[in-house]
Amino acid sequence: MNLSQAIEHRIFQVIQAEAQKLGVEVYVIGGFVRDLILGRPNTDIDFVANMHGVELARNAAKALGIKKIDIFKTYGTAHFRFGEWDLEFVNARKESYSRESRNPQVEQGTLQDDQNRRDFTINAMAISLQSENFGEVIDPFGGLDDLEKKILRTPLDPDITYSDDPLRMMRAVRFANQLHFRIEEESFDAIKRNAERLNIVSMERITTELNKIILCAKPSIGFKILFDTGLLHRFFPEMVRLHGVEKRNGIAHKDNFYHTLQVLDNLCETSDNLWLRWSAIMHDIAKPPTKRFEEGVGWTFHGHEDVGARWVPKIFGRLKLPLDHSMKFVQKMVLLHLRPIALTKEEISDSAIRRLLFEAGDDIDELMKLCRADITSKNEAKVQRYLANYEIVVQKLIELEEKDRVRNFQPPISGEDIMRIFNLSPGREIGIIKNAIKDAILDGVIRNDYDEAYAFMLQQAQSLGLKVES
Ligand code: CTP
Repeated sequence: MNLSQAIEHRIFQVIQAEAQKLGVEVYVIGGFVRDLILGRPNTDIDFVANMHGVELARNAAKALGIKKIDIFKTYGTAHFRFGEWDLEFVNARKESYSRESRNPQVEQGTLQDDQNRRDFTINAMAISLQSENFGEVIDPFGGLDDLEKKILRTPLDPDITYSDDPLRMMRAVRFANQLHFRIEEESFDAIKRNAERLNIVSMERITTELNKIILCAKPSIGFKILFDTGLLHRFFPEMVRLHGVEKRNGIAHKDNFYHTLQVLDNLCETSDNLWLRWSAIMHDIAKPPTKRFEEGVGWTFHGHEDVGARWVPKIFGRLKLPLDHSMKFVQKMVLLHLRPIALTKEEISDSAIRRLLFEAGDDIDELMKLCRADITSKNEAKVQRYLANYEIVVQKLIELEEKDRVRNFQPPISGEDIMRIFNLSPGREIGIIKNAIKDAILDGVIRNDYDEAYAFMLQQAQSLGLKVES
């Protein structure tokens, strides 16, 4: 295959000319080549030279009018940006890994050595930039064929490739999910055998791959592979525990692992928000420890939303996910995920809707998306009933928000107002009065309005024996 037409961009011409001047051989390699053939956009280009990679990068940057270039002496690599492009230059290398760390010891090598040490055949293809065969694809392991057949395969014995750098097992799952490829059977078995080696990979790197899986159009594909290979067990045992069903008196509960994946896939159809997707993953996470069988009732999971919300910081901490507002958002979603549908089990009161609006605040639309995705059942009639109820709640939420504006509720009378009016110093009465006003508004006893709240406050104060300061 020759791709000279696909690499007509000035970048490649300049690098070819500079390599020729320096007397070195240079190739485009890795993910860019793969994506070029697949027709996927990619602006990260890796170049590999047989020698003098850093000098080549310097000369090429100069010829392209770029002044800022990063050089990593220890590794003999260089990088610079050219418009939207990220260009990385390395010398062809041969690597040997130590068993305790994924940091390789680097030695000078040939193009073939460099291709040998790569993760998958589809990532090991190179394009020549030499004038005699410009654009020719150098594909020693049948990467083109594997692209065609949609197969992920390692260039060397998979036990070696994965054990050398165990992060590649996560990458295999991520590529399988992103590209809709199949992990070849030998590779799959090697991942199972080497899953434990994931322990030497830093959590940050694992989580980067995990988030890429979660951002796929259908992440259940990746999670099922993570489960089947035993990789998930290494870093997310709480999710593994969702797997399986128990039966008592002929009554089984659903498999919460597959249910969670269904909710996640459903949600992905309506939201790209990584943290809402994480909320779907976590929404039932505490079902296993809250599971009970109650005679005459069946399986219950009382309080799983509270316990689950409490687990979020612990799990986020371990997975090195951010412990900021994103984590708080996930906590809130897990805590509230049952509320919209639970509302429909009673007569839907305005007061209950106002309370939900108040607690969810600006995240109400995201909560409703999660809740909609959570309506899964094999029983079609049940799904239809829940969906109808869900629509009623959505309608009511819109009506009440328009009328009462409780979504961003700010109390019409503040704590300072109360202290001034009754000449009080800080103390528990203030909280009691403030809460009473808030409850009265949420319960619809009074409107969200200063005058009504003032009159109501006076009544409350009287029962506490307080007098207005004149
Ligand atoms: N590579 C590898 N083993 C790794 C990481 C990377 O062999 N653990 C090699 C592969 O040849 C890969 C190239 O380095 O194609 C570049 O890696 P990277 O930029 O991380 O990934 P891409 O394959 O380009 O894919 P993406 O941009 O989607 O991450």
